[in-house]
Amino acid sequence: MALRSRSGSRYPSEIPGEGLVLRPWNRQLLQQVANWGQRGFPYHAFDMGHLNDPVEARKMLRTTSEPGPHRHFVALENETAVGRVAVNLRDEAGFYIWGVHVPPEHGGRGVARRMVDALVRWLEERYPGGPGFLLSTNAFAAHAHRAYRAVGFEIAETRWHHDRQLADRLWQVSAEERASIAEHIRFHRGRWEVRVHIMRRPRGWQPGE
Ligand SMILES: CC(C)(COP(=O)(O)OP(=O)(O)OC[C@H]1O[C@@H](n2cnc3c(N)ncnc32)[C@H](O)[C@@H]1OP(=O)(O)O)[C@@H](O)C(=O)NCCC(=O)NCCS
Repeated sequence: MALRSRSGSRYPSEIPGEGLVLRPWNRQLLQQVANWGQRGFPYHAFDMGHLNDPVEARKMLRTTSEPGPHRHFVALENETAVGRVAVNLRDEAGFYIWGVHVPPEHGGRGVARRMVDALVRWLEERYPGGPGFLLSTNAFAAHAHRAYRAVGFEIAETRWHHDRQLADRLWQVSAEERASIAEHIRFHRGRWEVRVHIMRRPRGWQPGE
């Protein structure tokens, strides 16, 4: 699909949201993100401590500013980085929201809900005639599902998925740690799989629908 945006530039300087703003990544924000608290298994893939390594930091800054299909944002409340979110503008199934992450110290205050809402509404306005929205979420990520439902996403499909990073870690963790997500994983045909939900939100969704 050929997308037409209302403005020529790839990134807005800022996307306004409810009590927060979304901004493109920069060196100063990356430093804040590198110092966020971490969760570990099974959310280890989101942890950002590796950004304290200058090589990893450079790689991340490059990735988050390259002109490909993805747009990457950091959410700020009063200049404090409180979350991150990204979107793939060219997924054939629609605008694909990914990389939704709020560190534990800023959790439970609606940051995920507010930043996804801000991003989705900005995309609707910036790309008139663009597609609907979707995301994929591990079935064990219950807090994430509540945030997504609150802004109009519903489960459209559930499937088993081989996530390499999670599968690698499942080999390493203790049986107790694995048990914490037992109902959402299976060992199938020689490899670990996790149940994922595909959630969708139509364009123009309004609260109360
Ligand atoms: C999932 C995640 C993004 C949620 O961020 P958040 O800003 O805390 O989410 P919100 O504040 O919008 O809350 C969403 C729901 O979870 C609940 N919640 C969030 N943190 C909670 C906590 N520590 N204890 C109890 N409930 C919590 C909220 O109350 C809300 O539920 P409600 O609508 O029924 O009140 C964050 O926990 C995270 O980054 N987790 C690790 C990475 C991840 O799972 N990303 C999503 C991948 S799809």
